[in-house]
Amino acid sequence: MQFKKLLIGSAILASTSLMATSAFALTVGFSQIGSESGWRAAETAVTLKEAKERGITLKFADAQQKQENQIKALRSFIAQGVDAILVAPVVATGWDSVLKEVQEAKIPLILLDRTIDAPDSLYLTAVTADFIHEGNIAGDWLVNAVGNKECKVVELQGTTGSAPAIERKKGFEQSIAKGANIKIIRSQTADFTRTKGKEVMESFLKAENGGKDICALYAHNDDMAVGAIQSIKEAGLKPGTDILVISIDAVPDIFTALEAGEANATVELTPNMAGPAFDALEAFLKDGTLPPKWIQSPSRLYTQADDAKAIYNQKKGLGY
Ligand code: AHR
Repeated sequence: MQFKKLLIGSAILASTSLMATSAFALTVGFSQIGSESGWRAAETAVTLKEAKERGITLKFADAQQKQENQIKALRSFIAQGVDAILVAPVVATGWDSVLKEVQEAKIPLILLDRTIDAPDSLYLTAVTADFIHEGNIAGDWLVNAVGNKECKVVELQGTTGSAPAIERKKGFEQSIAKGANIKIIRSQTADFTRTKGKEVMESFLKAENGGKDICALYAHNDDMAVGAIQSIKEAGLKPGTDILVISIDAVPDIFTALEAGEANATVELTPNMAGPAFDALEAFLKDGTLPPKWIQSPSRLYTQADDAKAIYNQKKGLGY
């Protein structure tokens, strides 16, 4: 690889007179959070596939949900002299100093699927959805579904301190604040996992008259919703009817629940963050083209009105 990387202002630029991007023999380090959810596993699969198809050597590091492991992985990628780094940051804060080290090493870094609280000069671009908008979509769905009826909501939050947990909560709260009839009565983290979603929902049900006082569940991802659906059934209630279920991701399993009438709505998050990330990276390395600081992935709502079976089948072929 013979391109020269330049540090211009606060952005890292690569100047090169090299051939087309496909001819780059790129080595990219990827610090992934872990495998807490079906969505995360799909994102990993899509990233490996995209890298393979583009002839990129991907050095994969699983952080097992720990930021300290991600920081170690980034330092190891610097030591190995990778050409670029992708990182899916487990939490939003605490990145400034390691990202400065990456920048000093003149390695372009792209944030994948989660944002951070750090100056955007420290990374090339962020490929993410608008998490506040996702929360708005979920909240608006509930507002429309319940009308003027009083509705007590329990909320399963994602990983504490992560951008999606913070912003999905905020967006949902913004939307339900439009009326006084919908209130969040309990809210707790279940770490984006199915197991904890089930456990925490069990405790919500016990605390709220066996669930009879709960009108809706809002889960920051589908995996937690699927775990919670199990708890609702075990408590003798009908998920989707006695307790409305709204979540985020649109993984195949939630379409099974939608089809069975046990979930009501989900907001789609594409697992293909790597495609746009590699496009931006290749253009940047080819001729210094700077991508926008935010490459936004689309968000859309699915409900029981959609053809859940067809979507399940279509999704199954996409890395899930
Ligand atoms: O950052 C995206 C979130 O992380 C997904 O919604 C969730 O399933 C995952 O673990």
